[in-house]
Amino acid sequence: MSLREDFLWGGATAANQYEGGYDQDGKGLNAIDVMTNGSHTTPRQVTWKKADGQTGTTPLVWGKPFAFPKDAIPTILDDYYYPSHTGTDFYHHLEEDLGLLAEMGFKCYRFSINWSRIFPNGDDEQVNQAGLAFYDRVVDTCLRLGMEPLVTLSHYETPLSLVIRYNGWSDRKMIPIFEKYAKTLFNHFKGRVKYWLTFNEINAMDHAPYMGGGLLDTSAQNRAQGAHNQFVASALAVKAAHEIDPNMQVGQMLACSAIYTYTCDPKDALKVMEAQQNELFYADVQTGGRYPEYRLKKYAREGIVLEDCPEDYELIAKYPADFLSFSCYGSHVVTTHENTAQAEGNLGMNGVKNPYLETNAWGWTIDPYCLRLTLNTLWDRYHKPLWIVENGLGWSDELTPDGKIHDDYRINYLKANLKSMKDAVEIDGVDLLGYTMWSAIDLVSNGTGEMKKRYGFVYVDRDDRGNGSLKRYKKDSFDWYKQVIATNGESLD
Ligand code: BG6
Repeated sequence: MSLREDFLWGGATAANQYEGGYDQDGKGLNAIDVMTNGSHTTPRQVTWKKADGQTGTTPLVWGKPFAFPKDAIPTILDDYYYPSHTGTDFYHHLEEDLGLLAEMGFKCYRFSINWSRIFPNGDDEQVNQAGLAFYDRVVDTCLRLGMEPLVTLSHYETPLSLVIRYNGWSDRKMIPIFEKYAKTLFNHFKGRVKYWLTFNEINAMDHAPYMGGGLLDTSAQNRAQGAHNQFVASALAVKAAHEIDPNMQVGQMLACSAIYTYTCDPKDALKVMEAQQNELFYADVQTGGRYPEYRLKKYAREGIVLEDCPEDYELIAKYPADFLSFSCYGSHVVTTHENTAQAEGNLGMNGVKNPYLETNAWGWTIDPYCLRLTLNTLWDRYHKPLWIVENGLGWSDELTPDGKIHDDYRINYLKANLKSMKDAVEIDGVDLLGYTMWSAIDLVSNGTGEMKKRYGFVYVDRDDRGNGSLKRYKKDSFDWYKQVIATNGESLD
């Protein structure tokens, strides 16, 4: 069996990394709008102010506690550079960019709606009509160009006002607030947008809870509650979508990769099992429809008590995600053995360096088998349609004097990854809906805030300090991907 005829080939972006226009047409601030740029070695910072006028910054180190001062308010300060404020300016390049994606033959375009463009404070009484009008243009242009929109409701874009007032998703009040936001969009885009995702990489609540859930106080209790509140909100979104338009499908989005043991020491095998439980817990609940025992036991051991009610679990069981989508960049290695060289990965999932694999300059592995392994794990466990909504290679591309970008390294990465994906379908029989490469076009890196960690098929002239013409250039991978789509993945060369 080869890929389905209606396979949804495309690419993905996120509002906070791409749109810019951070304060235009009534948009409010979101959690990322107060984050500075960083680098591979310097973390991004959240800037803040206290009532007495004192200002400062708190670094966001992946996987580490976020030491945000209790009496501070996250805010924009002079003298700092905030890459989300301009992104790569999709806000003013909408037609041009979507035209380029359509030229590659995209069947699908994944993007996120910037929640605070719709409700500037997250929970306003009235919708910001100008914000809605912007997404009308995005959706209508996609449809006119033959691209199916796949919309993420929240890609690390918790409105800042909700971060400040509620400590983000740690408060149950977020559930009805999100329900209203989701319903507003479902009603408005009924008949135009079929595919939706609730929370980008919902397991970011474990690794980067400020980004994933807008948490300033990231205690284990708050993270567990934040995840629970997002599960209930996701179930309510599925319920609402089905009631508003039975054609709509609402998926889960998980950061997921293959995890290997470093040695054949059984202790290492146990370590892999635990790492996998941490990753799949989020899918066990949101796609599987129930809390797994291993997580309940962990909560009991750690003294975590959820603020919940029986209806929460009924909703979770009755309205699981319609499909399971995931991001997958490279595999991870874990071990109980000390003194092993370290490697890095998405969401700061650092592990042990794999001696069999190469990495990019940011230490992320390039693994030709990762997608097949991950697809099989998810298919065997959930038997729900799958969708790869992020996969790609971050690289510091170079623009040649004649306006070209020779990104053969990216083509090679994608070739190997698409082969792995096709093997999962053709050899193993996995049900796969589509593939949206990260990122359709160059944008700001989420992890480092850099521009130089580029992923796109289209180069954007912009540097790490915000200089550059914003002019767009096609990379070599642009024509290569066009051929891949035209042959429905038959020709990868
Ligand atoms: C995922 C996110 O974590 O990986 C994206 O959903 C992000 O927002 C992508 O950009 C790549 O990570 P990074 O840190 O290289 O931008």
